[in-house]
Amino acid sequence: MSPKKHSSILDFYDIEAPYVTEFRRLLHAVTNNESSTELKTIMLTSAMLSEGKSTVCSFMAITAALKKGLKTLLIDTDLRRPTIHKIFQLEVKAGLKEILVEGYNPRDAISTTSIDKLDVLTAGGYCEHPSAVFDAEAMGTLFEELKFYYDFIVIDAAPLLPVSDPMLLASKVDGIILVVKAGATQKEVVRRAVEILNPKQNNLLGVTFNNMNHSLPYYYDYGYYQYEYKNNRAKTDKKPKQTKVKQGRKIR
Ligand SMILES: Nc1ncnc2c1ncn2[C@@H]1O[C@H](COP(=O)(O)OP(=O)(O)O)[C@@H](O)[C@H]1O
Ligand SMILES: [Mg+2]
Repeated sequence: MSPKKHSSILDFYDIEAPYVTEFRRLLHAVTNNESSTELKTIMLTSAMLSEGKSTVCSFMAITAALKKGLKTLLIDTDLRRPTIHKIFQLEVKAGLKEILVEGYNPRDAISTTSIDKLDVLTAGGYCEHPSAVFDAEAMGTLFEELKFYYDFIVIDAAPLLPVSDPMLLASKVDGIILVVKAGATQKEVVRRAVEILNPKQNNLLGVTFNNMNHSLPYYYDYGYYQYEYKNNRAKTDKKPKQTKVKQGRKIR
């Protein structure tokens, strides 16, 4: 049976899977750093859209809570294209927008998850004018406040080249990780993203490569659904034998 298309990431997360080891390594590198400042608020951004920021943030936050036992908060600051609520299949009652615009108490805007140590702050309700709502100063203050309640805060940000939001947040977090879609994002584009992050002033911890085809289990790859669809259609349409299946396997 194929998995439901709209399941929460928590239904897919397999604590024994090899990719969890990669996230543990990433967390180890972040939490056992030798810098004098404690790294509690970590922002993930990328040069372009769809490099895997939200996906990496989600797996990182789950792993921090489940494997490292850290009281973890995942915050969606991408007000233009928020996805964390979809990834966790959370009903959005309130979120970051409501804190910033309507003065909600963060406690009333944060969602709990089925993992005891993992909470999520979604981007909140639909934002008609994200630039007007985005307030880096207020977010910086919020991050500082939330540090009292959480051991580790993962911040999902917008991409660097299309918008200025992540650049404005760069000085409000303890560390930044740049997500790069391996084999896809051009060197010059990555270089420009690093320039925007201004590593002389902000704490760019490093780059993490997200290889869309091989780093996650096949059932989490959206290509899988496409494969299923093509495969079923191939049967009903009585197309020549299984060409699509071979294509589908390649993506695993
Ligand atoms: N390692 C991966 N393997 C398979 N699919 C991935 C992987 N990383 C991301 N994706 C998929 O790629 C799409 C974009 O990822 P997302 O995390 O939303 O990117 P971003 O937040 O950078 O825009 C999503 O459909 C996501 O499920
Ligand atoms: Mg995203």
